[in-house]
Amino acid sequence: MSTLCYVNGEILSTSKGGIGISDLALQRGYGVFDYARTYNRKLFHFDDNLHRLRLSASKLHLKLPIPDIEITAVAEQLIRESTLNTPSIRLILTGGYSASPFFKDPNFIIIAEELPTYPASVYSLGVKLIKVEYQRELPHVKSINYMNSIRLEPLRREKNAFDILYYSENGVTECPRSNFFIFQGDRLVTPSSHVLHGITREIILKLASDHFPIEVRKIDPGELSTIDEAFITSTSKGIIPVTTIDAHKVGTGLVGDRTRILMRLLNEYTENY
Ligand SMILES: Cc1ncc(COP(=O)(O)O)c(C=O)c1O
Repeated sequence: MSTLCYVNGEILSTSKGGIGISDLALQRGYGVFDYARTYNRKLFHFDDNLHRLRLSASKLHLKLPIPDIEITAVAEQLIRESTLNTPSIRLILTGGYSASPFFKDPNFIIIAEELPTYPASVYSLGVKLIKVEYQRELPHVKSINYMNSIRLEPLRREKNAFDILYYSENGVTECPRSNFFIFQGDRLVTPSSHVLHGITREIILKLASDHFPIEVRKIDPGELSTIDEAFITSTSKGIIPVTTIDAHKVGTGLVGDRTRILMRLLNEYTENY
């Protein structure tokens, strides 16, 4: 499989692409990114990724060096010319080269890579989450810093969990790379604040609005013992049902009917995209 990337204006083989060791991303963890997928080799909601990348960049005072139309053209070229089964696109904007915390010219990288897949059983049987107290810094920013979730990997594996569910004084918020939803009866609830505004989250809220009453509000951790269904969403995962949180079953412990309805709606939406 041959994959390509773009580094500051140049397109080259991913194995040859790189930036120098004095970049602030490496030196101080300063940078943002975004991640888009394709369906049928067509970029999916890419404008939303570009919008979020610009928002993340502006919060870190970084400036994207090329306009959206050019980024899209490069992404499409990388998809066309890479031999990937299901291409996805990673956009990375770093602090750039600097020996001090002051920066001026970011490095901008676009990578075409294979979309990760998950076993069919996670969709048919659901998964387990474990709660960990943590609040992401600058939650609207898709920063390159996933230190906490990577640090928690051994714990996740030890507890046989699919993912971590963050909570804090701000309520139950999200997983390290996914948004979180619950059903209380027919009511679909997702946290209003202190989360990344996931692109899949927005799509689900729109698709669900014709079928279920929706509440976007703080979710108290205490509520989790009374919920009927739960699921997580992300670009690569779509909707993954959650059937266990810590040692407790969610509802009956089986994938819920309402979650299945949303999985079907999302499938239909992406097939017709
Ligand atoms: C912290 C966090 N929340 C939620 C999401 C899901 O966002 P999206 O649906 O745009 O993939 C991600 C994606 O990586 C994330 O990093």
